[in-house]
Amino acid sequence: MKDILSELDDRRATARKGGGDKRVAAQHAKGKLTARERVELLLDEGSFEEFDMFVAHRCTEFGMEKNKHPGDGVITGWGTINGRMVYVFSQDFTVLGGSVSETHAQKICKIMDMAMQNGAPVIGINDSGGARIQEGVDSLAAYGEVFQRNIMASGVVPQISLIMGPCAGGAVYSPAMTDFIFMVKDSSYMFVTGPDVVKTVTNEVVTAEELGGASTHTKKSSVADAAFENDVEALTEVRRLVDFLPLNNRDKSPTRPFYDDPARIEDSLDTLVPDNPNTPYDMKELITKLADEGDFYEIQEDFAKNIVTGFIRLEGQTVGVVANQPMVLAGVLDIDSSRKAARFVRFCDAFEIPILTLIDVPGFLPGTTQEYGGVIKHGAKLLFAYGEATVPKVTLITRKAYGGAYVVMSSKHLRGDFNYAWPTAEVAVMGAKGAVEILHRADLGDADKIAAHTAEYEDRFANPFVAAERGFVDEVIMPHSTRKRICRAFASLRNKKLETPWKKHDNIPL
Ligand code: HXC
Repeated sequence: MKDILSELDDRRATARKGGGDKRVAAQHAKGKLTARERVELLLDEGSFEEFDMFVAHRCTEFGMEKNKHPGDGVITGWGTINGRMVYVFSQDFTVLGGSVSETHAQKICKIMDMAMQNGAPVIGINDSGGARIQEGVDSLAAYGEVFQRNIMASGVVPQISLIMGPCAGGAVYSPAMTDFIFMVKDSSYMFVTGPDVVKTVTNEVVTAEELGGASTHTKKSSVADAAFENDVEALTEVRRLVDFLPLNNRDKSPTRPFYDDPARIEDSLDTLVPDNPNTPYDMKELITKLADEGDFYEIQEDFAKNIVTGFIRLEGQTVGVVANQPMVLAGVLDIDSSRKAARFVRFCDAFEIPILTLIDVPGFLPGTTQEYGGVIKHGAKLLFAYGEATVPKVTLITRKAYGGAYVVMSSKHLRGDFNYAWPTAEVAVMGAKGAVEILHRADLGDADKIAAHTAEYEDRFANPFVAAERGFVDEVIMPHSTRKRICRAFASLRNKKLETPWKKHDNIPL
């Protein structure tokens, strides 16, 4: 019996060694943690339960029968993050470059199936040379199995990807279908074809980092949601994100203890909006002043900064925030900001996270770049996302809410539940200058007349009261009492139920 127990110990020890000391040292030399170290940091101490530690590939091509490693280059299992269950896989670059064999993929599929069955998020740590070359089409087929599960799990359990090394070729499409992608600066990259192929096909000379590094994907492509300095920071931040999320689409987000008075008065908000309607102010100041303990988890901070998306808590409960940012492009809606916000709104709606929308929007960005790029379709994504969302929707207009953008941004007409405005709000078809230039074209040469028309227009429309008279704004509220009003609004909506007509699925303008 003792021999058998020690054999198990020996086998476990061999599996835990991964690709061996030399390759582990090489991994560390690149500033990367090993697959196991990552899992340990991600999960609560001692909570990891491993599956399939002894799984080995069955390939016999190219002498592979002599190149077997227990676990086959990926560590899979479940554990907890602050006591809440998650499933995890972590690719082990020290074993055959973390390459994906048939059995490697089967291990991933097993935990994805369990995650869907048991209703818990899947966190994938990607560090892989891609399809295992020796296995050929078996490896490609195995990827296909993972992709299909990504699709089935979408909207059922949150899926989070960490990119902590190479992720190239078709392999990128698994993380691409997950809800959030986090990258590590300088040690991770994602691209469909690498720099050598790019050079051959397009003659462009580009480094891997330039082509698909963390900076590229958080600032230019928006493929990734955040970039972190190192593995430790990335794993810690994923733990923080998971704390905001429900475990699945039938679960409620966790309620965290809070020590912040829901009725807290913020006098500084009374002067947040400057007197001059063209002077910017920082919408993030409002977000952090509304949030419990000022805690804001921003998503896609470095992309389309004219709109801000992320999670806060109100009375301990998760709320998704979408806010125009007057500091960047005057908070205008354009292709990038519409796409960014639409995807966020749909994530919130899929996982029953209420949405707070903070509005200061002068309209959609004009120009050929926008029109040729399809701003019509992209803007429609945001409109569609808000209109289809059935979660509680509380909206506050702080200043401008002009034209189509007024309707798009969670207006009353798109089933907004509480639509508040500050006294500084201006709900109108457009700003005074533009309106006067159209309505009084004949007077354009006469400065006095134009000034009089502008004053008249501002007097009539540059306020929230016309909309309030019609019930499109439910209440004009004092800025200092905003946290109290919004907390009470969400509290009143906790049992909200809204039916949509039966359909197979919608046809959002992609
Ligand atoms: C088998 C692989 C491998 C792979 C790496 N290795 N990638 N083995 N299949 N895809 C092995 C190497 O042979 C090496 O083994 C070890 O992993 C470490 O690799 P190195 O090259 O020494 O590491 P490094 O210099 O850091 O370079 C990493 C790398 C490079 C850039 C990822 O290995 C590489 O270019 N690999 C091939 C990438 C690739 O073309 N993959 C297929 C993409 S297409 P030893 O024993 O020497 O340590 C794809 C399609 C997916 O993935 C389709 C989905 C539908």
